[in-house]
Amino acid sequence: MGMDKILILDFGSQVAQLIARRVREAHVYSELHPYDMPIDAIRAFKPAGIILSGGPNSVYESDYQADPALFELGVPVLGICYGMQWMAQTLGGNVESGHQREFGYAEVDVLDNRLFNGLADKTLPNGQRQLDVWMSHGDKVVALPPAFSVIARTEACPIAAMADDAHKRYGVQFHPEVTHTRLGRDILHRFVLDICGAKPSWTMPNYIDEAIARIREQVGDEEVILGLSGGVDSSVAAALIHRAIGEQLTCVFVDHGLLRLNEAEMVMEMFARNLGVKVVHVDASADFMAHLAGETDPERKRKIIGGDFVEVFQREAQKLERARWLAQGTIYPDVIESAGAKTKKAHTIKSHHNVGGLPETLNLKLLEPLRELFKDEVRELGVALGLPHDMVYRHPFPGPGLGVRILGEVRADFADLLRRADAIFIEELRNTRDENGKSWYDKTSQAFAVFLPVKSVGVMGDGRTYDYVVALRAVITSDFMTAHWAELPYSLLGRVSNRIINEVRGINRVVYDVSGKPPATIEWE
Ligand code: XMP
Repeated sequence: MGMDKILILDFGSQVAQLIARRVREAHVYSELHPYDMPIDAIRAFKPAGIILSGGPNSVYESDYQADPALFELGVPVLGICYGMQWMAQTLGGNVESGHQREFGYAEVDVLDNRLFNGLADKTLPNGQRQLDVWMSHGDKVVALPPAFSVIARTEACPIAAMADDAHKRYGVQFHPEVTHTRLGRDILHRFVLDICGAKPSWTMPNYIDEAIARIREQVGDEEVILGLSGGVDSSVAAALIHRAIGEQLTCVFVDHGLLRLNEAEMVMEMFARNLGVKVVHVDASADFMAHLAGETDPERKRKIIGGDFVEVFQREAQKLERARWLAQGTIYPDVIESAGAKTKKAHTIKSHHNVGGLPETLNLKLLEPLRELFKDEVRELGVALGLPHDMVYRHPFPGPGLGVRILGEVRADFADLLRRADAIFIEELRNTRDENGKSWYDKTSQAFAVFLPVKSVGVMGDGRTYDYVVALRAVITSDFMTAHWAELPYSLLGRVSNRIINEVRGINRVVYDVSGKPPATIEWE
């Protein structure tokens, strides 16, 4: 890509992705790489500037060292927290291991400098300008490297920021990437646009043109298949690839019988009829149901659904003899996560449904046109490609679908009840509006109904009922790793409950899930 790029080296920060987001908000392309990226790779990346992230380590104890040769590339460098400490240590300054951790809000006095010029949250009567920032550190820089000067200070941290203007090297002890640092975004944009001189050319129309050219070049006159799930990522990938190569793309839509109400019709309507994409609609629900019969264990259910899915997809793909490419809607957080996952050891809580092994068995090359995009950029792209807003801003839906929302044995009749209850819940969430015009659907990150295979007694009219229970789940989260249950208004819950019990014969009780994650997970299985 010919545009200006910022390289972010990640020293193990929890919020390194945020740095990349903030830079991209300045319409400058940025990528996150591990701190030990080889210097040749850094050179080949041709960064307009480098940002060194924070991290949990101490420069004294850790082998978290980047290659100091990056300072010889002649590009501006900004170190954040650990990044600043590593820079100070490497360039001849001194870092002291913290006796006291500093965590939380701080008011820093700032001095006139290229990085902070004109930026202040307030000015004291004596003329001192201050920034409200977020600090989180144990160690701190206690002696500047040669050629550096102090550009911000607090009492606890006399070198809260430092600069070597001649070499365009900057360090900040606080975290400009988090929203708690009120002018953090402006500071990062100042670095990227003014100090690095990067051109703000990362815009959606530019991106679409470039992505289309790249897909055409990669694929040539070969054919591509894509597994369409109805989710945002695969839908946007399909729309983009179709725009690039039209008839050379065939999508396969596997209906496992565990989709939401009218989902298959919606996907076919959108892609096949509106956009003119070739879509093979495979109704494999009978097979899935047959294989799931009698199985109550959540992990085995996931394995059955995942295995069947791959099998059906493979069978369909093999019919498309001319296909040489498998397209996937992998997005940037997936790429970063799997790079991180290689070094991290985590417990498997749930085995996620994916189609990771497919390209090898099918002998297909992988086409992943969304690999560089964050979720909100994918959504922006979807809208720019003409996909309906409601589809692009839909809540995520797990690969195994209703299979993990029907507790215990999965049956077609349970799936039907759940689909209808779920649709009522979603419709009611969408029908609300707050003073800003936002619905509860917009304000929750994920909402759905769960089918509980227990029966309870009820009374309807003059008669006794003995029917199933549905639980409603609605959560608010930014990363799906932790989540709060949504404080939906009682009146809304009451309306949903009434409608479900009245309209879905077979359900006579509705409950609301008030568990956070952790200790609960978002899905029930
Ligand atoms: P949990 O239940 O682990 O869910 O708190 C976190 C997020 O992941 C989604 N999820 C899945 N997504 N395949 C997916 O593509 C899966 O197998 C799967 N299982 C859970 C879940 O809906 C939530 O958004």
